[in-house]
Amino acid sequence: MLSVKKVAESCVSSSKLERIPSKYMYLKNKSDEDSSVILCDEEAQNITIPTIDFSHLISSNPTQRSKEIQQLGRACTDWGFFMLINHGVPETLREEVLRACKGFYDLPEEYKRQYEGGDIFAPIKCGTSFNANVEKTFLWRDYLKCHVHPHFHAPSNPQGFSETTEAYCKRSREVIGELLKGISISLGQEENYIHKVMNIESGFQMMVVNFYPRCPMPDQAMGLPPHSDHGLLTLLLQNELEGLQLLRNDMWIPIHPLPNSFIVNTGDHMEILTNGKYKSNIHRAIVNKNATRITIGTAHGPPLDAVVGPATELIGEDNPPAYRAIKYKDYMRLQQSKELDGKSCLGHVRISI
Ligand code: OGA
Ligand code: NI
Repeated sequence: MLSVKKVAESCVSSSKLERIPSKYMYLKNKSDEDSSVILCDEEAQNITIPTIDFSHLISSNPTQRSKEIQQLGRACTDWGFFMLINHGVPETLREEVLRACKGFYDLPEEYKRQYEGGDIFAPIKCGTSFNANVEKTFLWRDYLKCHVHPHFHAPSNPQGFSETTEAYCKRSREVIGELLKGISISLGQEENYIHKVMNIESGFQMMVVNFYPRCPMPDQAMGLPPHSDHGLLTLLLQNELEGLQLLRNDMWIPIHPLPNSFIVNTGDHMEILTNGKYKSNIHRAIVNKNATRITIGTAHGPPLDAVVGPATELIGEDNPPAYRAIKYKDYMRLQQSKELDGKSCLGHVRISI
């Protein structure tokens, strides 16, 4: 399958007008479905997601910590998205991992092709769009997906890629580990609650590197269409370009991350586990005219064979289970085998009352 990186390069070098092939004209093809949503308006530009200060979350000062945990709980209830600052992941490592990922995409297409196709659970998978086998319209996005925990997998090229991404994924697990402690407390449980019930020590972690080349017709194409993430939490790192938007009150809110911050969002399995208290949120990635945008998302969840349902401690007589329990792996299979489509996968496990 032709990568969108190559498509973008040929749009630029061709003597024709800078036009994208009609197969990538997402908004034209999908406009009927999307028409209920107002595209970014002025009001949305000024809305900001909550900020969580990681250094407060791990503070030895109990008052400072519990205040931040409250904010974290509120961010999960009200938004399912927050910006994480003072997280302690060195800026040099963030820059290095972004550079390594750019280096991977700069490799010859033939090298990357060895990771194409194959099973949806292939530990290293490279491709374009989301599920190009079933999509009528392609996304303006190439991807690399690696399973990085409990076993680490990464392409061996370019040189240093594997070492750098492994170091980064380990740091991202440490950050997520602390966030899950704070979230456990915010749910009225002890700090290791989610670690225990979800067996986080052996949990599944996937690294997704998104590559969105500069696009001559950004208003027509789509990087990633509206979707929610599988797993408990996703940590997102991006290069200097913006593009992530989240859906709130029928508006697309653009996210403007502060320099050196991460964006964190709750996934479908957090929603299932908390019986809907901490819902996942629909988001998308738009593309831009100026330069290539690279993002690195790490999704963190329980082991792939864990069965996830609403936690016993978080349901009650007046709060009956609203979701069916489902094996994490089966849920992922469901999501990965179709086109990306909002929160439609959760619909399969939601119990209608
Ligand atoms: C994702 C995702 C957003 C972005 O990879 O699931 O939502 O801005 N990425 O790349
Ligand atoms: Ni996402």
